Amino acid sequence: MGSAIHAAGLDVGYPGPHHPTTVLSGLDLDVEAGTFLSILGPSGCGKSTLLRVVADLIEPLAGEIRVLGETPRSVRSRRDVGFVFQDSTLLPWRTVRDNVRLPLHIGRGSLTRPIEDKTEELLALMSLSALADRFPHQLSGGQRQRAAIARALLGEPRLLLMDEPFGALDEITRDRLNDELLNLWRRTQTTILFVTHSIAEAVYLGERVIVLAANPGRVVADRDLKTVKLPGNRCSREDPAIVATMAGMRAALEAAS
Ligand SMILES: Nc1ncnc2c1ncn2[C@@H]1O[C@H](COP(=O)(O)OP(=O)(O)OP(=O)(O)O)[C@@H](O)[C@H]1O
Ligand SMILES: [Mg+2]
Repeated sequence: MGSAIHAAGLDVGYPGPHHPTTVLSGLDLDVEAGTFLSILGPSGCGKSTLLRVVADLIEPLAGEIRVLGETPRSVRSRRDVGFVFQDSTLLPWRTVRDNVRLPLHIGRGSLTRPIEDKTEELLALMSLSALADRFPHQLSGGQRQRAAIARALLGEPRLLLMDEPFGALDEITRDRLNDELLNLWRRTQTTILFVTHSIAEAVYLGERVIVLAANPGRVVADRDLKTVKLPGNRCSREDPAIVATMAGMRAALEAAS
């Protein structure tokens, strides 16, 4: 399948008044292409930072990072990465439809691969067709998040980075969107890095779950769930093996906190 992420000895930090503060230190991570990877970890441990370095929004201080076999910079320039941020970042002055099709309008000249206009298809997929002419402030939080996901999917990215995309939703909506996301992933074989604070969500969605710890940020637990799930990464939340896996992940998260 090839490699989606290869990180070795990765140090990532932010500029400080005197010297940079290191958030991730010596992080090693390999993710096979096509994987649905869930990422858990205490608040502030560096989950969003990890996604930012993969997306080329920040540069590492040291170490190696390859995304889809290339530098984050070249992957970003080809628009092979879609990012759904922790708080949805829709432009308030554009309608839902125009937010979804935003990638068609920005950075046109730098595109090496033309993006097909699949706006209407994605609006329908996310159940937003009837709301397409509204502005973000006229939507609920979940509807805004769905619009952000549609926008991230527009370029058919080979890698989808999702940072707590469903954190603000009620459980029923969240469960439904989890299933929609899984269906989409099964159809497209996109690699997904999915950050969440919900152990249940991490286990339900992920073929593999990692736990990051803080100070320094690094991978402290790594669990392959293929053996506890049915083919196609399917499972029932009530399955005893899944419940036991959730308990195991909780223990790992407690140890990391
Ligand atoms: N732009 C920035 N400048 C300086 N420090 C930052 C910056 N962004 C994040 N940090 C710090 O880096 C650390 C990791 O932040 P990050 O956002 O990656 O955590 P997280 O694991 O995503 O947390 P949460 O679960 O709360 O979203 C935190 O201590 C945070 O304060
Ligand atoms: Mg975060």
